[in-house]
Amino acid sequence: MSEATYRSLCDLIFRHSRIYLGANRQSMLVSRLNSRRQHLGIKSWDAYYEHLSKNQKGEELGILIDLIATNHTQFFRENLHFDRLKSEIIDTILKECGGAATKFLAWSAASSSGEEPFSLAITIKEHFSQRPGPPSDWMVYASDISRKTLKVAEAAIYPSSNLNLPNPEWLRRYFKRGSGPYEGKCRVKPEILKHVKFQQINLFQKSYPLPQPLHLIFCRNVLIYFEQESQAQLVARLHSMLTRGGFLIVGHSDSLNCFRHDFTPLGGGVYRRNT
Ligand SMILES: C[S@@+](CC[C@H](N)C(=O)[O-])C[C@H]1O[C@@H](n2cnc3c(N)ncnc32)[C@H](O)[C@@H]1O
Repeated sequence: MSEATYRSLCDLIFRHSRIYLGANRQSMLVSRLNSRRQHLGIKSWDAYYEHLSKNQKGEELGILIDLIATNHTQFFRENLHFDRLKSEIIDTILKECGGAATKFLAWSAASSSGEEPFSLAITIKEHFSQRPGPPSDWMVYASDISRKTLKVAEAAIYPSSNLNLPNPEWLRRYFKRGSGPYEGKCRVKPEILKHVKFQQINLFQKSYPLPQPLHLIFCRNVLIYFEQESQAQLVARLHSMLTRGGFLIVGHSDSLNCFRHDFTPLGGGVYRRNT
């Protein structure tokens, strides 16, 4: 792949997803895209770029993003966030954010294959079932740019070995063990599934098809793939999606330190909307 083609591909990826590859990622791009190019019977990288740019909104660009995006995730990843939801954040929202006690709305904004929104849903369900009084309604919206990961999320079937849950009881409570061809796998139970809605959303698309205002947004381990200006734009949009006093939670490797924003940092990647 020539330097010029590499730059054109990076540009295309950036315009579509804001994923910023920068210099020195050429060999990564070649290794991730090579088999796709060969599968298409396209001989050169220039011709592959031509093929993509003729059909910029098309399926091929989606496949390219699927191939280059890092989708790593796991149940209860960065578990401190879920502990803080349980011990303080959910109750603060219910007390201080209008409407939350009637319908609590959360969004997992880069949900990958579903482990994060299902962890969030289990945490909310557990918390609500232990509160006195009538049960509150709640919903977790979950989205990602990658269709491939969303398919896994919608199937909601995971290898049992990946289900490292903080409370082993939850395995029986919230997952159904598979048998036959599904031996060694578990499916999320309907009582959780009915509270989680997946859809494809590019965080940089014009508008988000979500109810507003939201009370809680998880946007973890995705900001790091964007450059600073895109991060600042995205964080401002997330701010506008939240109710006053709503919470934004980012990953431990993400940072909001390098640009201005209107959140109060509460430590450990937890931020609260000010105004
Ligand atoms: C490393 S995973 C993080 C998953 C989960 N939030 C976690 O922390 O475990 C990053 C996800 O961001 C998604 N992503 C990258 N660019 C995106 C964009 N522009 N819009 C929406 N999702 C995007 C990728 O497809 C990937 O699934």
